[in-house]
Amino acid sequence: MAYTIKVNGVERTADVDGDTPLLWVLRDVFGMTGTKFGCGASLCGACTVHQDGNAIRSCITSIDSIGGSSITTIEAIGDTPSGAKIQKAWLDLEAPQCGYCQSGQIMSAAALLAGNAHPSDNDIDEAMSGNICRCGTYSRIREAIKLAAG
Ligand code: FES
Repeated sequence: MAYTIKVNGVERTADVDGDTPLLWVLRDVFGMTGTKFGCGASLCGACTVHQDGNAIRSCITSIDSIGGSSITTIEAIGDTPSGAKIQKAWLDLEAPQCGYCQSGQIMSAAALLAGNAHPSDNDIDEAMSGNICRCGTYSRIREAIKLAAG
């Protein structure tokens, strides 16, 4: 069945089964490979995107649940005020190590800042607790979020 969803402000159509995870529609149908596959079970956060500004796990979000909501991916998060600040801070502090999880980390951090301009350490830890980094860059990520928050 054909599903038309809005991704990064553009309507795109995918002819897939309704239970196809958004992650695979983004990567395999739309060629938007910035969103990563880690666990496929909502455990790691690598696949995080925004749905109407909220951080969601695209690996467990079926295409037929998107409806008229707006999806934002790492490819366009830099066009949002919080995303631009986060990406600049990430670069300034060289937050990534191997980088694989960082799309998801940035998407969660951008959602946090969009809703809470000056998060406390606890706010940051809570918002980022679902994003796993095997390199252990957590302290740099926390500093980058603080830098972005000013
Ligand atoms: Fe979605 Fe791990 S790939 S949470």
